[in-house]
Amino acid sequence: MPRLATRTGRAKPSAIMVIADKARQLKAEGKDVVNFSIGVPNFLPGEHVYAAVRDWTQHDSGAYGSNRGSPELLDAIVAHLQQSGLDGYTRNHITVGIGAKQVLYNLCEALLDEGDEIVFPAPYWTSYVDIAEILGARATILPCPPEQHYKLTPAQLDKALASNPKVFLFNNPSNPTGMVYTRDEIAALADVLAKHPNTWIIADDIYNRLVFDGIGYHNVVQFRPELRERTFIMDSLSKTYGMPGWRVGFVAGPEAGVKALVTLNSNHITCLPEIITAAAVAALNGPQDIPAAKREEFAKRRDDVLQALRAIPGVKCPRPQGAFYAFPDISVAFGKSHNGKPIENDVDFCKTLLEEKFVATVPGSAFGEPRSLRISYTCAPAQLQKGLARIQEFFAELSDARAERARAANA
Ligand SMILES: Cc1ncc(COP(=O)(O)O)c(C=O)c1O
Repeated sequence: MPRLATRTGRAKPSAIMVIADKARQLKAEGKDVVNFSIGVPNFLPGEHVYAAVRDWTQHDSGAYGSNRGSPELLDAIVAHLQQSGLDGYTRNHITVGIGAKQVLYNLCEALLDEGDEIVFPAPYWTSYVDIAEILGARATILPCPPEQHYKLTPAQLDKALASNPKVFLFNNPSNPTGMVYTRDEIAALADVLAKHPNTWIIADDIYNRLVFDGIGYHNVVQFRPELRERTFIMDSLSKTYGMPGWRVGFVAGPEAGVKALVTLNSNHITCLPEIITAAAVAALNGPQDIPAAKREEFAKRRDDVLQALRAIPGVKCPRPQGAFYAFPDISVAFGKSHNGKPIENDVDFCKTLLEEKFVATVPGSAFGEPRSLRISYTCAPAQLQKGLARIQEFFAELSDARAERARAANA
């Protein structure tokens, strides 16, 4: 049999999907599973989005569309960027893709040759590592532990950029931690980036409308306009508009770079389907009350999650201020056991929690921080309370495995 390309061996299945599959399997067996594992918003887009789709089926052609994105969609994106405080972008600075994930893949393909260096902070979104590996790029990961609230410092960034990496990739608000950089923190990072002109910047800002506590959303180009010529800002309709399966992502960046992405689009996807384009235009141009209401709702749930986690002795959880994730440090459980099952690390913890309490979470090692785990808190409030209570119970039932072993050895 002929051999598959080497790059397929470098691609790994998503760690999040592995847990989600196991949770689905337990559910199919009739277990009462609470699923905190997958980052899917629990709401549907507004009626106006479905109306636009129905309307499209009456009039439109089903023809191929523009590689860049339809003019109406590009205009809607320009307006969306302006509402987020990102002025001065035109149709020529924008293109679309099949979700932010495909936009990111295109971007990495456009910016990175094999062996090139891409730098990003950890905890990171899992696909960053996978995409770099598929493309044969060298990933340099900057650890940002819970003690520094999972945030990158300007000094860390300055040091990492001294080697002139090809790309710096930055996610704010963060999946998996829910951390949001303040205005001053972004301004300080922008000053550092301005000192290193040989590095492209990818800002993965797909959670920018889900920011709590009045911190607001900021991007480095607002503080250092000269960064625009090498910064690509990614966004998507998945999380903000409850449209993950509709697969609409977009990017704003320098004209020449975006033109290269359009050429990749012409070879990878041709275009966004017209029917999806109609839905995306309706979501972006229509009433914004659903995203605003969801932000309030998620902020409230964040409070519930934080309160429950902080009530567990030894668990530390920096306060998430955006997206819909909490990322507690659960390392206090390592070296203990539950019902005789030893917990040596985050993977043991998540596996045992799922098997014993039917609560699905994702081990932090999938995001480059093995002391923690990710809780996605988008499920219904009753489920959320049930899952949090089970996590508390799980901790209360842990016993000291090492002490038990020592006692057994001495008996
Ligand atoms: C940080 C981050 N970037 C990008 C994506 C991809 O989003 P999309 O559904 O638009 O492909 C996700 C999805 O979970 C994400 O969390």
